[in-house]
Amino acid sequence: MSTMHGFRIGVLASGSGSNLQALIDRFNTSANSPARIVWVGSNKANAGALERARNAGIHSTVISADNDGTALLAQLRDAHIDLLVLAGYLRLIPAPVITAYRGKIINIHPSLLPAFGGAGMYGVRVHEAVLSSGVRVSGATVHMVDEHFDRGVILAQWPVLVHASDTANTLAARVLHVEHHLLPRVVEAIIADQIVVQDNGTITGEVPMPDIPLPIR
Ligand code: GRF
Repeated sequence: MSTMHGFRIGVLASGSGSNLQALIDRFNTSANSPARIVWVGSNKANAGALERARNAGIHSTVISADNDGTALLAQLRDAHIDLLVLAGYLRLIPAPVITAYRGKIINIHPSLLPAFGGAGMYGVRVHEAVLSSGVRVSGATVHMVDEHFDRGVILAQWPVLVHASDTANTLAARVLHVEHHLLPRVVEAIIADQIVVQDNGTITGEVPMPDIPLPIR
């Protein structure tokens, strides 16, 4: 997915923006980076993500609530976005935006989809559902975004163990740490065409877990 003018990434985030920060740290701190975060949007004016964007000198904006996609689409086009990353964005992306950017929008979710995803499954609720189900492994998923919450082709998943002593918060922290490594890696892999989504929805290539120790246990 390479471009002539440098790869331009937009990020939508509703929360603290620690995943956004991981992307900023990976892509916006060196002159020879293959890509740059150039636009950050949020549905919440007080989102920490907007402050992180401002601190990094990235154009940031609040997306209006009655959004049929027209305003968002205009913003993405004005910013010449090549890839839109949803990093803790709680709103459904309007269908016209999906249509215009099909195959160019990805999301990170703090469970091993398709388990523990869908409408209303965000934040601590995901980890509470994981704990009450009794599964012993959870993890993080990055997937293509379509018209539905947490569906779309899965691009990469990294696991973390669930402990008997876990609370939703301790599990969330373990998963979040892995998210911060996984998301920039998947973006790099997309830019370098290491993972490619075919027209029939299958993917070629993969993002293997790194050799560096991650606190998955
Ligand atoms: C992450 O767990 C992400 O997977 C989920 O929302 C959380 C966002 O955290 N979709 P942050 O705002 O990046 O700190």
